[in-house]
Amino acid sequence: MTSAHLGLSGLLDTEAIRKDFPLLDRVVHDGKKIVYLDSAATSQKPRQVLDALNTYYERHNANVHRGVYTVAEEATALYEGARDKVAAFINAPSRDEVIFTKNASESLNLVANMLGWADEPYRVDHETEIAITEMEHHSNIVPWQLLSQRTGAKLKWFGLTDDGRLDLSNIEEVITEKTKIVSFTLVSNLLGTVNPVETIIRRAQEVGALVCIDASQAAPHMVLDVQALQADFVAFTGHKMCGPTGIGVLWGRQELLEDLPPFLGGGEMIETVSMHSSTYAPAPHKFEAGTPPIAQAVGLGAAVDYLSAIGMENIARHEHAITEYAVRRLQEVPDLRIIGPTTAEDRGAAISFTLGDIHPHDVGQVLDEQGIAVRVGHHCARPVCLRYGIPATTRASFYLYSTPAEVDALVEGLEHVRNFFG
Ligand code: ALA
Repeated sequence: MTSAHLGLSGLLDTEAIRKDFPLLDRVVHDGKKIVYLDSAATSQKPRQVLDALNTYYERHNANVHRGVYTVAEEATALYEGARDKVAAFINAPSRDEVIFTKNASESLNLVANMLGWADEPYRVDHETEIAITEMEHHSNIVPWQLLSQRTGAKLKWFGLTDDGRLDLSNIEEVITEKTKIVSFTLVSNLLGTVNPVETIIRRAQEVGALVCIDASQAAPHMVLDVQALQADFVAFTGHKMCGPTGIGVLWGRQELLEDLPPFLGGGEMIETVSMHSSTYAPAPHKFEAGTPPIAQAVGLGAAVDYLSAIGMENIARHEHAITEYAVRRLQEVPDLRIIGPTTAEDRGAAISFTLGDIHPHDVGQVLDEQGIAVRVGHHCARPVCLRYGIPATTRASFYLYSTPAEVDALVEGLEHVRNFFG
């Protein structure tokens, strides 16, 4: 550690943790070990998750909820066991409230479509409103635009303050008696901002609107307790929290899941089918048409075990320390402008910035030559870039395996970028 690291408290034993992540040993570009700073896009996977996937395919692979033979029953038990693990991880009152999807985008699209096809009192139509925010990922904008176009419902949104937070000064105009659903991110993937959930939910409850939370950038990093949150739906994805790709989660309140219609029809989501009509299985199966992502759910279960063994409070503390250090060090780089909160308070571990007028793609390329992996672009949150008058940002994002030395490597890498571009 350099002297700059001294005094950082709350750090995890990353030396031990990093041994679980084979990819972090990768060597790229002239023998340089990878400095992986793109966990907000996707996290690396520990050996425990990779082993669970392998064991599933080597020993237990069969379709679920169908066969009566031993291996099929094992596959079903593993798939449903993963649901139990996820339910416990988010403190869901019932395992039946956990729906497996393909990713967070599918979870959010599922909510939008349920409401679009629903009867009163949930139905979204031309007399109603939908509220979102300007800091959403496209996956929490486009489904609502589609719903608004289809139904005629008015789409409204909260704007952003100059320091990268939600502007809630007009909360009573954005969330009104006509609002059916308020959907917003708990943690911004571009700005890193952690949003004031309670204030928004209080107003939504005042007017009887449902609340949907995009927890994609929260579930991997902090304790996520759906009962404490008091939302109606919570969406997140597995691949950002040490799990495989191809598995997402939608948690929804049981009575809503009972009342709301399915979106996708197909095998295993039904109770009975005739050539004239069908009746549906209870939730969660009503929302899981076709063969589900079985191995991926098993992998997510292993990821949840892995994170829980380390402890989400410990992971959050580690990331807070790294973020505090990174925000401080990055601000020492001349011409660097952080897009988003410039302190570690109420912010997550994704830090976006611009570097003078050097294009982020150039920044990313020169960093890559030094083995440093960051994301560049609009991060699927283009309205945020438009709001701050920039075409794109460079984003470094940290996780439980990130170290202060990697922050130092980034800062040195950025000095190199500046020198390179004169
Ligand atoms: N949503 C992911 C990100 O922010 C892909 O990079």
